Amino acid sequence: MVSESLRESIRDAWAWRVRPHVPRAAHRATAILLRRLGLEKRLLHWLIPACPRANFSNLSWATAEAVHAGLRRACEAGLDGDYYEFGLYRGFTFWFAQQAAAANGLAGMRFFGFDSFRGLPPPGGVDAVGAEFSQGDFACDRATVERLLSRFGTDWSRTHLVEGFYEASLTADARARHGMRPVSVALIDCDLYSSAVRVLEFLEGLLQEGAILLFDDWSCFGASEDHGERRALREFLAAHPRWTAEPLFAFGGHGQAFVVHADRQHRNERLDARGE
Ligand SMILES: C[S@@+](CC[C@H](N)C(=O)[O-])C[C@H]1O[C@@H](n2cnc3c(N)ncnc32)[C@H](O)[C@@H]1O
Repeated sequence: MVSESLRESIRDAWAWRVRPHVPRAAHRATAILLRRLGLEKRLLHWLIPACPRANFSNLSWATAEAVHAGLRRACEAGLDGDYYEFGLYRGFTFWFAQQAAAANGLAGMRFFGFDSFRGLPPPGGVDAVGAEFSQGDFACDRATVERLLSRFGTDWSRTHLVEGFYEASLTADARARHGMRPVSVALIDCDLYSSAVRVLEFLEGLLQEGAILLFDDWSCFGASEDHGERRALREFLAAHPRWTAEPLFAFGGHGQAFVVHADRQHRNERLDARGE
């Protein structure tokens, strides 16, 4: 489902920036015509996924829509927190989250993106089954990601990239150095079980009641409970019984969104710590 506010934003702001070579008047006329013909959904796909000149493309439009839906829900629930994305590739969805947050009025939100900028690590252990993922998949160097984000209007005062393989980069020190606030929405888009395990352990110190977790690769590895993000979340919840994850919606071919709940005692402890 594409919301009206998302459509408005696309028409009036970011589509223009993604396709700056299309004259604005032609852009608007096309939008009106396609809306009249009931083909606007196709227009969105035409507008957003590609900017051939900049090679700024997303892997899945459904992921971008899920991020938008998560941010809208966070906004409606009055969640105070930041956006986290684990696995950036070229940075399109990360940039999209910034536009969607603005469309939802989340002006104070900060954006943290985590990537090796060298693609996937070598899939070992349970990740080594099949040929779904290989070392170096989705590699895009940091300078390119920064250039694309800058070109399309990223506010760097609220945006931070954390570089490195997660075993080295996802540390308590990184959390403290950036003064990271609780998770409002987190997109976990790093494909492998081994990566998702590290992400969830890192996020544990940042979770809050109502946080939205979007697992982009939930049904990879043949939707096996013993692989990938399914296994990582199951093990995380077993190890940290104060958290539960309520399924919210599925997205795309592989994705699944959850809302996180804290047990009553933990909720009260965190509220006390914040002096509420
Ligand atoms: C599928 S791509 C992300 C796509 C992006 N979210 C988008 O929507 O365009 C997966 C990314 O995860 C990163 N990644 C996976 N495991 C990682 C790890 N252990 N450490 C650092 N980066 C990792 C890869 O470098 C790659 O950029």
